[in-house]
Amino acid sequence: MNIPNHLQIKSFSEYKQWYKKSIEEPESFWDSIANKFYWRKKWHTTLAYNFDTPEIKWFLGGKLNITENCLDRHLDTIGNKTAIIWEPNSPDEETRHITYRQLYVKVSHFANVLKNNGIKKGDRVCLYMPMIPELAIAMLACARIGAVHSIVFAGFSSAAIASRIIDSECKMLITANEVYRGNKRINLKAICDEALEKTPSIESVIVYRRTVEPTQMEPSRDKFWFDELQKVDANCEAEEMDAEDLLFILYTSGSTGTPKGMVHTTGGYMVGSTFTFQNVFQLSKKDIYWCTADIGWITGHSYIIYGPLCAGATTVMFEGIPSFPDYGRLWEICNKLNVTHFYTAPTAIRALAKQPLDLVKKHDLSSLKVLGSVGEPINEEAWHWYNDYIGNGNCPIVDTWWQTETGAIMISPLAGITPTRPTFATLPLPGVQLALMDENGNEIEIKPDKAEGRLAVKFPWPSMARSVYNNHERYKSVYFSQFKGMYFTGDGAYRDAMGNYRITGRVDDVVIVSGHNLGTAPIENAINEHEAVAESAIVGFPHDIKGTALCAFISLHEGKLGNQNLIKEIKQQVSNTIGPIAKPDTVIFVNGLPKTRSGKIMRRILRKIAHNKTDALGDTSTLLNPDIIQEIIAQFKGN
Ligand code: WT7
Repeated sequence: MNIPNHLQIKSFSEYKQWYKKSIEEPESFWDSIANKFYWRKKWHTTLAYNFDTPEIKWFLGGKLNITENCLDRHLDTIGNKTAIIWEPNSPDEETRHITYRQLYVKVSHFANVLKNNGIKKGDRVCLYMPMIPELAIAMLACARIGAVHSIVFAGFSSAAIASRIIDSECKMLITANEVYRGNKRINLKAICDEALEKTPSIESVIVYRRTVEPTQMEPSRDKFWFDELQKVDANCEAEEMDAEDLLFILYTSGSTGTPKGMVHTTGGYMVGSTFTFQNVFQLSKKDIYWCTADIGWITGHSYIIYGPLCAGATTVMFEGIPSFPDYGRLWEICNKLNVTHFYTAPTAIRALAKQPLDLVKKHDLSSLKVLGSVGEPINEEAWHWYNDYIGNGNCPIVDTWWQTETGAIMISPLAGITPTRPTFATLPLPGVQLALMDENGNEIEIKPDKAEGRLAVKFPWPSMARSVYNNHERYKSVYFSQFKGMYFTGDGAYRDAMGNYRITGRVDDVVIVSGHNLGTAPIENAINEHEAVAESAIVGFPHDIKGTALCAFISLHEGKLGNQNLIKEIKQQVSNTIGPIAKPDTVIFVNGLPKTRSGKIMRRILRKIAHNKTDALGDTSTLLNPDIIQEIIAQFKGN
């Protein structure tokens, strides 16, 4: 079969053909995809791998620079097309439009600033920046000269920055003096200064002035972005990179221990992120695509920057938060920018669904064509709200399952091409060979019957992480030791008779009640179906008789009251949906749940609270809302 001269699958039958080919002849399949990119030199071997050591290499011998694919390659054809639309925190500040040509110039210019400050190919550079175009420029400038970027979300604490800088020995830190977030102004530079006391590897700090406030500078080390630009020109030829040279490191927290610096390399990541972007979202030339994630996590890397720019799309970057100046802000922006593709997280959807519907209805959302979801399983209620009120019933929802480690979407509908099913991520993308494993470590055969197990991947895909930085042993033990010859995802999944996958949640979130193996996700889903409930989290705690009993932390919709009657109804609902065994012993109504930046509920912390071990909560520096913890403890104790 010939892959046509574009990267987009255009029908369900074409999906089936491509998928089949990608499994039967993975190498020739990925060759034909990779051929659509610009390579300085073509690869001699498509794939070499060993899942035991583990070692994975794609496009061996290939030479390229990803920024030539994001920028240079587009100059003749779409140089004047908007690459990035930047929407500021405040609706009163002006939107910025940056064309591909302008972005090319800015990236080249700033790349020379990096060089002028002694940064060379292979050096690590830490970026701690708000959602402003300069973050995109700085990351692409690193890629242009072959420096490895390590982006740290600009909401993390100084301790989190320091540990990440130390782990990968970054030579430079790029930041902004301040950041606007809602009606707050946060001094990023001061947070950096605290981190910098512990990071001897940093030789220089580049500071972008986001506000006019005075900024504390250490003259021998700190330089302003604007001043540095004056010292260099804007011509910077891209560094020639090997396909397997490091492109970036991105830290992700494990269920235990220190964060893991996932290592992504150049060629495979480019091919994987772009191919999946084009097929999942199905953009046309004039579409306006908006992913609300922060660039500080993988969704922003792959689906705000690298995928969309390699594909020549217009990508929106939003500096602010969904609740400022009111909870209609995201819909106001969709309306104002004529957004066609909107990609967000279930946690945001649930938070917005809690608000009065007027905040949606007063904005014209008719430009929307495709909706996306990522980060955790999307519950039925949220799915329908998203579908009915945001999509007006006519936008396919792509529920995209993937991980920091996978670099790109692995399971998802292709918008308008393959069928969707509420709460299901549905089918694997071409090149993704999934396996469902039973508790004895045997693969559950694909037969026309439903099945449930642990989700693994049997064959390499180009965008997979190649290692944990400085700790290959950890890479091996976390991902390649559970099932021999396979990558283990850490997730559980259900497969229906049609082969659609539904992610049931992390398998480390499993609790055993009276010898019954209960996933927390299905119980939470049952609770969430109650009309008064906004969100919930289930954890186990020691119980004399049951071994483990369940504690439910529940946040209610605005205006709902948590009383004994409601507790009874919720228990009944769980009992009806799953069975009496899954009824929580304790129900605590809280004002919010502790969450990671990517919107995942930190059950680890709730578990400690339920165990009365509030003096050993562990690292809470990566929480989105650290303040909520003391509130929850008080609510738990008052119970
Ligand atoms: C974990 C990875 C990939 C970007 C988001 C977070 C969960 C992610 C889905 C989905 C159900 C999902 C999984 C996965 N997850 N997307 N569509 N449905 N669960 O990346 O922080 O590396 O987290 O997020 O549990 O393993 P991450």
